[in-house]
Amino acid sequence: MTTTSATPSSAIDFKSLVAPELAAIDAVITQHLASDVALVSQIGHYIVNAGGKRIRPILVTLMARALGFEGPQRHQLAAVVEFIHTATLLHDDVVDESALRRGRDTANALFGNAASVLVGDFLYSRAFQMMVSVNRMRVLEVLANATNVIAEGEVLQLMNMHDPDLTVADYYRVIQYKTAQLFEASARLGAILADAPPEVEASCAQFGIALGTAFQLVDDLLDYDGNTAELGKNVGDDLREGKPTLPLIIAMQRANDAERQTLRSMIERGASAAELDAQLDTALQIVRRTGALEATREAALEQARQAQECLQCIQHSQYREALLQLTIQSVHRIS
Ligand code: IPE
Ligand code: IPE
Ligand code: MG
Ligand code: MG
Repeated sequence: MTTTSATPSSAIDFKSLVAPELAAIDAVITQHLASDVALVSQIGHYIVNAGGKRIRPILVTLMARALGFEGPQRHQLAAVVEFIHTATLLHDDVVDESALRRGRDTANALFGNAASVLVGDFLYSRAFQMMVSVNRMRVLEVLANATNVIAEGEVLQLMNMHDPDLTVADYYRVIQYKTAQLFEASARLGAILADAPPEVEASCAQFGIALGTAFQLVDDLLDYDGNTAELGKNVGDDLREGKPTLPLIIAMQRANDAERQTLRSMIERGASAAELDAQLDTALQIVRRTGALEATREAALEQARQAQECLQCIQHSQYREALLQLTIQSVHRIS
C-alpha cells in the first residue's frame, strides 16, 4: 500500500509508526505457526511469509494505542486476527479456484485443496488457542462471533454465485459478513483492550465496518481494473467464476439491453481460462462505458468518509492520524 495519497494535514510517518508494531506482530505469528506436523508449518509459513498487507492486525494495534493501551496483548490479538484472515484466504482460494495469492501460487494450486482446507482449520483453531491466553470473555465473544459470521458470508456468497439478479442490498450483506465483520472485530478488540467506554467501543466497531466495506468494494473494483502483478492476485477471478459484484451489478443497471444480456450470460455461465481474457475485455468495456467503476469507487469513498467520522470520538494522536490514513490508503490502494 502507498501512503502518498494522504492529505497534508495527516502528514505523519505511517511506515515508521507501524513498522515496530508489525515486527512485534510478525514475531508472535511466527512463534505460533509451529507444529509437529511438517506440512502444517510448511503451508503456514508459505502463505504467511508471502507477506500480505497486515491491515487487520494494524487496525487492532493502532486502535488499542489510539485509546491509550500499550500492553503486549495488542500484538497477540493482532496475530490472532491475521490467523483468522489467513485461514479464510486458504479456504476462499479453494472455493474460488484461485491460482495466485500474494504474488505466489496459491496453497491449493501448490499443495492441493485438501491440504489447504485442513491447514486453514489448523489456523482457525490455533487462533482460538491464542485468544484464550488473553483471558477475557469479551474477546472470545467478539472473535467467536466474527468467525461464525465470516463463514456465513462465504456460504451466502456461494449461494449467490451465477445469479444475475443479485441486488445491491444482497451484495452489501455478503461483504458485510465476509469482510467487514473481521475489520469490525479488529477495531473492537483495540477498544476492549483499552477498556474504552461502550459508546467509544461502538464507534470503533462502526469504524471497522465502514473501513472493511470500503476495503472490499475496492477489492471488487481491482478485480476488474487492477493489475495482476501489483495485486499479487489474478485480475478477472470474479468474472471467471460468475460472481456478481458491485461493478457488474451497477453496469447491468445502466447498460443497454444488448450489453445487459451479455453481462447476464457471463454471470450465469462464468468463463473458462481460455475465454477469460476476451470476456474480461468485453465486460470491462461495458463496466467503463456505464461509469460503474467510478460509482464503485464513489461508494468506497463514502464508506471511508463514514469511517473518518467515527474517529471523532477519539482524542487526537499520531495513532488516530494513522487510522485516518488507513481509510485513505484503503480506497486508493492498487494492491
Ligand atoms: C483479501 O484481503 C481478502 C479480502 C477481504 C478482500 P487482503 O487484501 O487484506 O489480503 P492480504 O492479507 O493483504 O494478502
Ligand atoms: C474476500 O473475497 C474473501 C474473504 C473475506 C475470505 P474475495 O474472494 O474477493 O477475496 P480475494 O479477492 O480472493 O482476496
Ligand atoms: Mg477469492
Ligand atoms: Mg476479490
